[in-house]
Amino acid sequence: AAREPLKVMISGAPASGKGTQCEMIVRKYGLVHISTGDLLRAEVAAGSEIGKKAKEYMDNGRLVPDEIVTDMVVSRLSRQDVREKGWLLDGYPRSFAQAQSLEKIKIRPDIYIMLEVPDEILIDRCVGRRMDPVTGKIYHLKNFPPKTEEIAARLITRPDDTKEKVKSRLETYKQNTEAILATYLDLLNKVDGNRSREVVFSEIDSLLLSVQENVIKAKNLD
Ligand code: AP5
Repeated sequence: AAREPLKVMISGAPASGKGTQCEMIVRKYGLVHISTGDLLRAEVAAGSEIGKKAKEYMDNGRLVPDEIVTDMVVSRLSRQDVREKGWLLDGYPRSFAQAQSLEKIKIRPDIYIMLEVPDEILIDRCVGRRMDPVTGKIYHLKNFPPKTEEIAARLITRPDDTKEKVKSRLETYKQNTEAILATYLDLLNKVDGNRSREVVFSEIDSLLLSVQENVIKAKNLD
């Protein structure tokens, strides 16, 4: 039977490992990865109107205004590839208003995954994080250093990855979480993100497999 494409939301504090897990999920499930952080960083890099507005908020660890981000996500979700392959939303919704915007247009995931990692570990992960501008891959100076000198030489640090900025991003996250969770309580699955990335992925993988089963069953009942 044809598989109904999965719809997945992944959430968690800054540096809880969302991007890292998304890479692994996409490799296995082929979902369209929609990361609002990545979309916004691309706008900033391109120097677009959206990028100019967003930069100041991002640099201070505050949320970019809802309407900017929501327009971006809704237009991305309406594209054909998303309908065919399913979606993996990373970093959205991040406020009660954003969650309500999706509810209003009847966009709900099959599962809501929340990565949990203690604060002191998050700070270390952010400060050590490096990104490869060529492949988009995420590294960590200690945990996951790149394999070649060539890659090491071109890695960049995100401007919002200083200790102070991580603290304010964490604060913003904590202020908004409860209100968002209320919208997805029935779909919520908390995952301990303070384990190796492979172990974290294997738990997410079994959750997705069982959700996929349920999606197929529900479809056959229609
Ligand atoms: P965004 O890019 O979404 O940042 P974030 O939520 O702070 O999350 P990160 O990208 O920092 O971390 P991650 O969880 O993906 O972790 P990663 O896998 O990289 O948003 C940035 C900004 O954009 C926001 O502050 C806001 O201003 C704006 N924005 C975005 N969305 C918005 C929205 N919806 N509304 C309004 N504004 C919005 O891992 C981190 C590090 O840890 C890496 O070095 C990695 O190698 C390492 N690591 C990962 N997993 C493990 C593991 N299991 N063990 C050890 N190390 C690990």
